[in-house]
This record gives sequence, structure tokens and C-alpha cells, in this order.
Amino acid sequence: MNNKNIVKIENLEKSYENGNIKVLNGIDLEIKEGEFVSIIGPSGSGKSTLLNMLGALDIVDNGKINVANYDLTKKKNLDEFRSEKIGFIFQLHNLIPNISVMENVEIPMYETKLSGKQRTNKALKLLNDVGLKDKTKTKPTKLSGGERQRVAIARALANDPAIILADEPTGSLDSRSGKKILELLNDLHKEKNVTLIIVTHDMNVAKLADRIIEVLDGKILKSNDNSFLNEDINC
Ligand SMILES: Nc1ncnc2c1ncn2[C@@H]1O[C@H](COP(=O)(O)OP(=O)(O)O)[C@@H](O)[C@H]1O
Ligand SMILES: [Mg+2]
Repeated sequence: MNNKNIVKIENLEKSYENGNIKVLNGIDLEIKEGEFVSIIGPSGSGKSTLLNMLGALDIVDNGKINVANYDLTKKKNLDEFRSEKIGFIFQLHNLIPNISVMENVEIPMYETKLSGKQRTNKALKLLNDVGLKDKTKTKPTKLSGGERQRVAIARALANDPAIILADEPTGSLDSRSGKKILELLNDLHKEKNVTLIIVTHDMNVAKLADRIIEVLDGKILKSNDNSFLNEDINC
């Protein structure tokens, strides 16, 4: 981690249904380059909405949001931002079922200048990193939930993103596979100095982060350095 902000959000607001459903009510947040933060809070508190804003998957109503030197309120170059800066991992891994694991990992690289051979080599390396080098030709439908999530991680890393955004990445897994996924994310974060932002309702997951951000009713209730973690966090 260094001292430079990779995320800076000021007074961010977002509502749906023509302003009738207020979801984010003035979020202020700074995240350092290379930091690992977890975002916790009750269901419906706005965690996924916040993550979607960070990845420019949705448009902000009011406030400022700057991520990896892109001003996301400007609505300019957002495709470039998403494909070059961000790796997404969702609870349901969104893999394409009828193509191989290898091809799934190669997909984000089609938008880059890499040659076919370079794409293949990179996908192989990433699948090796996540412990799936024996499964490159397998289709996702033949894999366990934990293995599919590892493919999703390899895919998220394909374009060397500055930031990984993960929404409940262990939510659909049994605790043993979930633990492995977390260890893997943590290792990758340390090795590659990727900024890692994980939404979770699982305190065991949240505790691994450098900092825990607690969201309630679309606001940040607390942002605690992990060493000050105490029992009264509700999630
Ligand atoms: N596209 C949308 N249209 C309308 N309401 C939405 C939309 N996305 C989220 N919401 C509402 O915003 C609130 C926060 O949702 P979300 O960010 O998914 O919460 P969390 O991830 O913390 O469970 C919920 O009440 C949800 O129903
Ligand atoms: Mg959610």
C-alpha cells in the first residue's frame, strides 16, 4: 500500500425510480492504492450500488467520484476504464457455460493488443496461479462452485487491473471453498499490489482486510482500521 488515493468519493448520492428510492445518501470515501478494504452492512444498505458506482457500472446522480484517475461523473471513456482498470468478481461468477475455462479467461483480453499466442500464455499462467492448470479445457458446467469462482478470479485478473471489485465472492460457496478463495485473493493482492475491495456480510472475510467500512442506509457509518476491530459491528 502507498499513500496515493486510488479512490476518492465525495458526497456521492444515488437514487432509483426517479428519486423515489434513495440508495446512497452522501458517501465520502478514500481508498489508497494497494489497500485491501471490505465493505459490510445489512442487506439493502447500498453495498452493491456503491461497488457498481466504483466500477462505473451505473451512473452517479450527485457528488464526486474519481477512480484510478478517471472522473466517473464525466461519462467519458468508461468502457476503457472498465476494461483496463477494473476486474469484477460477482457472487454468481457469470462465466460463459459452453466454452472452456481457458476461453472464459481469454475473453477480456480480446479488447487488448495481445496476440492469440500471448492471450493463451497469459490465460494459462493465470489459471496456474489460481490452481486450475489441469482444468483449462473443461467447461464451467463441469466445475465445482469454488473452482468456478477461481476461474472468475483468473478472468478478473486478465487485464492486470488496478482494482478488483468483488461482490460477495464467497457468498455461494461452502466455508472451506470460501476460505480458499479468500486466501487466493489475499495472496494475489499482496503479490501484485492490486487494490482489493470486497463486499461481504461475512465477518471472517471482512476481518482479512486492512480496513472495514460499514455501510448503513446508504451512508458510511464507520471506517475502522482492522486492528481496532471490536464486537459491535452489525452485519
Ligand atoms: N436498479 C435498481 N432499481 C431500483 N432499486 C434498486 C436498484 N438497485 C438497487 N436498488 C435498491 O437499492 C437498495 C440497496 O441495494 P443494494 O445496493 O443492492 O444493497 P446491498 O448490496 O447492500 O444489499 C435496495 O433497497 C434495492 O432494492
Ligand atoms: Mg448486494
